[in-house]
Amino acid sequence: MNRRLGSLFLATGLVFLLAGVFFGVLGGLLYLFPQELRDLLPFTKLRPLHVSSVVFWILFAAIGGLYFYTSGSSKTIRSYTLGHLHYLLLFTAAITIMGCYVAGIFGGREYWEYPPVLAIPIAISFVLLGVHFYRHIKKTKGPWPIYRWMWLSGIVFFILSFTESYLWVLPYFGDHLVRDMAVQWKSYGSLVGSWNMLINGGAFYVMTRLSGDDSLARKPLTFAFFFLGLFNLMFNWGHHIYALPVSSTIRYTAYIVSMTELLILGRIIWTWRSSLSEARKNAALLPYRFLIVADGWIFLNLFMAILMSVPAINLYTHGTHITVAHTMGATIGINTMLLLASATYACIRFYGRFSTAAQKSIMRGLYLSNGSLVVFWVALIGAGLGKAVLEVQSPEMPHAQIMQALQPWFVAFAVSGTGIAVGVALMAVPILRTLLANQKAIPESETLKSKELQHI
Ligand code: HEM
Repeated sequence: MNRRLGSLFLATGLVFLLAGVFFGVLGGLLYLFPQELRDLLPFTKLRPLHVSSVVFWILFAAIGGLYFYTSGSSKTIRSYTLGHLHYLLLFTAAITIMGCYVAGIFGGREYWEYPPVLAIPIAISFVLLGVHFYRHIKKTKGPWPIYRWMWLSGIVFFILSFTESYLWVLPYFGDHLVRDMAVQWKSYGSLVGSWNMLINGGAFYVMTRLSGDDSLARKPLTFAFFFLGLFNLMFNWGHHIYALPVSSTIRYTAYIVSMTELLILGRIIWTWRSSLSEARKNAALLPYRFLIVADGWIFLNLFMAILMSVPAINLYTHGTHITVAHTMGATIGINTMLLLASATYACIRFYGRFSTAAQKSIMRGLYLSNGSLVVFWVALIGAGLGKAVLEVQSPEMPHAQIMQALQPWFVAFAVSGTGIAVGVALMAVPILRTLLANQKAIPESETLKSKELQHI
């Protein structure tokens, strides 16, 4: 039954992903033809439509994985109703939010631009997810594997930081600019950290199952990595507020904490290298390929995030397309690839193999989207650097002229963005079809075990 919910959440997430890349491509076109398209497609609507769609992709797909991998735990009608209520709340909020954007009804803050009242069903839906998770862990015995800790911290920190991101509705925060922005950006840093925990929990679960080695999820080093990640989730937000006149202690602490990410980076490179031989052995396996691709993007993005954490560099990158390169590089290259690893794993394990045509389409999509993402990423960094240089060299240059000078980067951005969108569709559609065609999951006894999975 939880598999059905998992499938429902994942399928909904995939539809949001398709909508997200569609709005993204329209946004890319607006960069090229701003005058011609402004009335037809206002960027003020398009940007939140795009960003919210991809955020809902991430949330629905990560939660879908959680339901899939905690399946078989709660078979009562009560938990069935609870799961559906959870879905209904999140889905209704998501659709209403999209409707508000189309109708031009705003009222929130950046990234959550919908009327704040819609935050309530989202928050309640996460509490219900917490209840589901509690029921699941109540029945489990012995020490927890790492992914369970990740799921727990993801749920708890989502509720905390999501609530925190709405403190601005209280005059004490909302009426004080610096306090308001400091809390706002701090909460956003933790919020992203919390859904990363949900995604990473799913990815760790898949890695453990694919390798057939449960000790991977219980090693002290894995836990050390988890605690470092958790520490970063709580404190790495400092680089978001370098531009604000807050206490220097906060800035220095933030800088040192951001630098601990070097340790994570070191560990990732280490695992990346050691996982290569294993990966080669399993090169034919779809989830493995997604995991390996995500690993490459983790490396690139962490390197970039560390550079951006240096205050002297942050002064120039803040608010330029370099920030967008960092955000999209991470959400597409890391988050989306890890979620697709989990989605393909869940399909193969619970619904049988993909057809040859579906497998081919997914592989083509994987190559196309990642090849395009490299160009996309470089184009955004190029546009960001170009803008920073122009602003320093010619401070009197009007904004429109700067944008004109950056046009070649925007052409590369729009073309490669279309490549990403087509690649995403080539992957998402066959997965969606598999989920919709297999309403009945195969019984647990017939699901593919890790040994068999390795021979697909
Ligand atoms: C899985 C796919 C994608 C994800 C997860 C994603 C994610 C995001 C995120 C998180 C932002 C906000 C960036 C920020 O404020 O720093 C953003 C902005 C944007 N994205 Fe994407 N994106 C995806 C695909 C695309 C594609 C295919 C295009 C096509 C060109 C695109 C075009 C844009 C544009 C134009 C913006 C607004 C940038 C600005 O404010 O100037 N995105 N995207």
